[in-house]
Amino acid sequence: MTTILTPALTAHWDEPDSFTLAGYRRDGGYRALPKALAMSPDEVISTVKESVLRGRGGAGFPTGVKWGFIPRGDGKPHYLVVNADESEPGACKDMPTMLNNPQALIEGIVIASYAIQANTAFIYVRGEVLHAIRRLQYAVAQAREAGFVGRNILGSGFDLDIVVHAGAGAYICGEETALLDSLEGKRGQPRLKPPFPATSGLYASPSNVNNVESIASVPWIIAHGSKDFAALGTEKSKGFGIFSLSGHVTTPGQYEAPLGTTLRELLGLAGGIRAGHRLKFWTPGGSSTPLFTDKHLDVPLDYESVAAAGSMLGTRSIQLFDETTCVVRVVLRWNEFYQHESCGKCTPCREGSYWVVQLLGALERGEGSEADLDKLLDICSNITGRAFCPLGDSIEPSVKSSITYFRDEYIEHLKGGGCPFDPAASTLFTMETAR
Ligand SMILES: Cc1cc2nc3c(=O)[nH]c(=O)nc-3n(C[C@H](O)[C@H](O)[C@H](O)COP(=O)(O)O)c2cc1C
Repeated sequence: MTTILTPALTAHWDEPDSFTLAGYRRDGGYRALPKALAMSPDEVISTVKESVLRGRGGAGFPTGVKWGFIPRGDGKPHYLVVNADESEPGACKDMPTMLNNPQALIEGIVIASYAIQANTAFIYVRGEVLHAIRRLQYAVAQAREAGFVGRNILGSGFDLDIVVHAGAGAYICGEETALLDSLEGKRGQPRLKPPFPATSGLYASPSNVNNVESIASVPWIIAHGSKDFAALGTEKSKGFGIFSLSGHVTTPGQYEAPLGTTLRELLGLAGGIRAGHRLKFWTPGGSSTPLFTDKHLDVPLDYESVAAAGSMLGTRSIQLFDETTCVVRVVLRWNEFYQHESCGKCTPCREGSYWVVQLLGALERGEGSEADLDKLLDICSNITGRAFCPLGDSIEPSVKSSITYFRDEYIEHLKGGGCPFDPAASTLFTMETAR
């Protein structure tokens, strides 16, 4: 069967011991580390730069370039911090990676720490995912016992400690500077930038914050070469990435494919939308990215093409909704999340998210008037770009795009004095009863 899949991180997830050191080594793991340690730190950075790996945490900033910002020979301790918070609705690639392939992350951490000359690395994991935390702790212990972590790694003279740190479960702690504050034992709230973490990060020392998938991709790049990685994907969006399909799809899950793959192709692998239904709307990059509809099935899912079509690739968290789903309800639910998770530090996000939820809630109940749609858009436009950190910018995209594509559905709620959808018809609404 022809497939567009390029399994790298996900290649061995179906093996029962894929999470163990023995399983990882059998499948080719820890071949990149001696290769990297035989290079100079700057050569490792150059290789990652040449691969054009872009940060998989959402913003897509080139990983090698970011590592290159860490000062050399400054005499200060350096830190690598892995962002394993993964709390965005729809995002579910880092947790399965840590559960099924934690050693790829650990090998990547050792290589990245060597490149930026950090002797301590932290994995900041969202507190609720105890099973992932336990698996990481086990994986670090196994790697330490085998000499891949600790003192004088593989006789190279390079020392590294890895600390698995459990957060308390707050979406804002995925924002890199709030994460650093939380790691330092403070309340997790974003810091003013500059200074950027590369010069003044954890404990005011040069630090790199990188996403799980970014770091876990590094061993593959070192082992196979930057050219092989850059040969996949599109002109500016290189390599493979995990696309997480969830919602009204026949076979939800993680599909690892080159950037630039289309939803039509992914749906071909995932058995399409659930039987007897059709695609109504979807998110290309999670709840903070503008909605797409069935008109966007052939948009190449790379940073540039998705932006040109009016959305963002984000974390490739593809949530699919069929015609049984009320778009107003979904957008309300996402924004209830943002309101709840707003850290309260800045007024536009704290107050704006509250009012957006009030208005969306009223509209969903069929209360108010069409003028409320303009009020909603006005409030949103006063949050975007004015909030202290990008959490505030996550509010407008779903609201604005849903009004653009489904204005009639909002009006239908107002005309009918309530939601025209049958909650029982959409499997997604069953969770509502638990609230
Ligand atoms: C509210 C908010 C939540 C975020 N959550 C995460 C997260 O869970 N994981 C992540 O890697 N990046 C998250 N980010 C992005 C990080 O701030 C940062 O850009 C990323 O960790 C950088 O890693 P990368 O360069 O490897 O992509 C979040 C950003 C914001 C504003």
